[in-house]
Amino acid sequence: MSAEYHVSGSVAVITLNNPPVNGLGHATRAAAVAGLKKAQADDAIKAIVITGAGKAFSGGADIKEFNSPAALAEPSLATLIATAEGSSKPVVAAIHTVCMGGGLELALGCHYRIAMPGAQIALPEVKLGLLPGAGGTQRLPRVLGLEMAINMIVSGTPVLSEKLAKTALFSEVLAADADLLTAAVAFASKVADTRPLPKVRDLKVDYPNHEAFLQFTRNTVKAMSGPFPAPLECVETVAASVTKKFDDGIQFERERFLKLMQTTESKALRHAFFSERVASKVPDVPADTPTRAIKSAAVIGAGTMGGGIAMNFVNAGIPVKLLETKQEALDKGLATIRKNYENTLKKGKLTQEKFDQRIALISGTLDYAEIGQADIVVEAVFEDMGVKETVFKKLDEVMKPGAILASNTSTLDLDQIANFTKRPQDVVGTHFFSPANVMKLLEIVRGRATGKDVLATTLALSKKLKKTGVVSGVCDGFIGNRMIEQYSRQSGFLLEEGCLPEQVDKAMEKFGFAMGPFRMSDLAGNDIGWYIRKRRYVEKPEISYSKTADLLCEMGRFGQKTGAGWYDYKAGDRKAYPNEQVNAMIVKHSADLGLTRRKISDQEIVERLVFSMVNEAALILEEGIAMRASDIDMVYLTGYGFPLFRGGPMFYADTVGLPNVLDAIEKYSKGHQGQAWKPAPLLVKLAAEGKGFNG
Ligand SMILES: NC(=O)c1ccc[n+]([C@@H]2O[C@H](COP(=O)([O-])OP(=O)(O)OC[C@H]3O[C@@H](n4cnc5c(N)ncnc54)[C@H](O)[C@@H]3O)[C@@H](O)[C@H]2O)c1
Repeated sequence: MSAEYHVSGSVAVITLNNPPVNGLGHATRAAAVAGLKKAQADDAIKAIVITGAGKAFSGGADIKEFNSPAALAEPSLATLIATAEGSSKPVVAAIHTVCMGGGLELALGCHYRIAMPGAQIALPEVKLGLLPGAGGTQRLPRVLGLEMAINMIVSGTPVLSEKLAKTALFSEVLAADADLLTAAVAFASKVADTRPLPKVRDLKVDYPNHEAFLQFTRNTVKAMSGPFPAPLECVETVAASVTKKFDDGIQFERERFLKLMQTTESKALRHAFFSERVASKVPDVPADTPTRAIKSAAVIGAGTMGGGIAMNFVNAGIPVKLLETKQEALDKGLATIRKNYENTLKKGKLTQEKFDQRIALISGTLDYAEIGQADIVVEAVFEDMGVKETVFKKLDEVMKPGAILASNTSTLDLDQIANFTKRPQDVVGTHFFSPANVMKLLEIVRGRATGKDVLATTLALSKKLKKTGVVSGVCDGFIGNRMIEQYSRQSGFLLEEGCLPEQVDKAMEKFGFAMGPFRMSDLAGNDIGWYIRKRRYVEKPEISYSKTADLLCEMGRFGQKTGAGWYDYKAGDRKAYPNEQVNAMIVKHSADLGLTRRKISDQEIVERLVFSMVNEAALILEEGIAMRASDIDMVYLTGYGFPLFRGGPMFYADTVGLPNVLDAIEKYSKGHQGQAWKPAPLLVKLAAEGKGFNG
């Protein structure tokens, strides 16, 4: 039973009960409709209250049945709403905590609504690239007015019930100490004999000169919504509440909703939404795996990453000790953190009280003895196996039993690091992205010996730190950097064949990346890639790279930090200005290689950069380094700025069609540096079977 029925005097109370948020899944809808019918048939019942058990009135659609036939099975949400609205006895929605999406649409179909203060009221469908499809776009403007309804529906942002107390949405917003059910039953008894019953559909949306307002809104929303069609569709549909009769508006809403359901952009957003949820599930680590308590943390190394990582703990209220080898480095690291918080304070994004609390949670030390009691220690020292060895041997000596020993290494072998200790089961990789206090992605590296409880704890911690945790196996570069290496290699080869940095960057930016590869490299520092390549030339001489980037570094052009990289930079200006000398160096290098430069299309640029990553990702999947294609998409959406409306590299490849991806790869394997393209067996197999990576 996912809705309960009980009687209080002459009032029937239907309580939606489908934890965690009373999603309106099929069983809940059916039980609610049955309750409404039962109340209709019972002469002793004079009025009906609908409310929600536990932590919500209703959060809307049941995500467990999203995209499944059950979502559309009768009684549909529209039928439930029509049953409530058509009831011959008054129906009162008793709202608390959360009333969103389909939940709010149901409430709008009731004759009366009363609410507790603090309830979150929203129609958030736009966040999944959709619009409210069960009357929300027609009924909300009738109670809130055109302007407020458009704002809520286009943004999807929750508004607290007390802020809407004076609108026709609520008959009453109660006092904070009121008992909702008692008040709702009393209210229902009071209105039991009122006829005719008030229906939101009968109200009129009055907005003088609405066309001018709507035109202004269309222009503003269009300019803000980039490649996503849903926000503008929301405006058009709400506009129908003024320009059309109610039933015509409902039909218009239905048509637009179904159209949006089919758009790639909405599919991409829904994919991202579900991928994020699924990423924290590990098949052999069940949800009830015990976790270790994380109440304190230590970070080794107060450099770029260590400082940001420490801020993550502090922001989550976990005290942290930063350890360095020299006082000077420690002071510098602590000062940087302080400055970061001061900037946030100055911008008004942090109160003085919160600022003081955060600063009080951070301390520094040079002495390992002072960190031994921490529940987790994250190592963020130089990327050098010798240094990591010294640190992990020391941690093994000083850390209390049961402490988690984490490494932020981006390229080194975590299993080797774990073996520097006598407790490899406690070692895990926590690969944060720069800037660590901002970027959402946390690659959680599962070593051969990493304990299941350690993995479960780290996944839970990632949520506490407000990160998207994605599990990766051990390999060079893990999921994200291993793929990006192919992207960088191709961007280098493109320079040899005829492109200049600006063309490549513009093509990728047009595709949707915030920054193309060369601007990105200038931001990160070209010396980082140079350092890695120099190691690769020795360790993996079989991998080919363009030497152009090395020549650039030999010119001392390390990127923004030196004011010069692939582009020139001016102080106080982040704009990239093409540089004649660099471009001449690129053209000369092609000549030195004996290549005749050719005109390369934007399509080729995008295909080579994206498909080279997809091909590597197929290997990563096959090797079991990533558990699922959607995890790879999450890595790229949250850590590498892959355009959200394209759903991530694997989703994008599925959209293009794997046979087309394979054809392109085969074509490029016959071109310059063609040996860089070996179709991954999984890609070949899925393409032949007519399947996609994401099913
Ligand atoms: N910078 C990035 O974008 C990035 C991103 C992800 C991961 N990483 C990884 O994070 C780690 C740190 O990188 P970073 O960019 O912060 O480097 P960094 O050079 O900015 O900082 C390293 C810090 O470690 C300190 N240190 C060195 N040896 C130490 C020791 N034995 N004990 C204590 N402190 C010591 C140094 O004094 C320095 O402050 C590396 O493993 C790197 O691969 C870096």
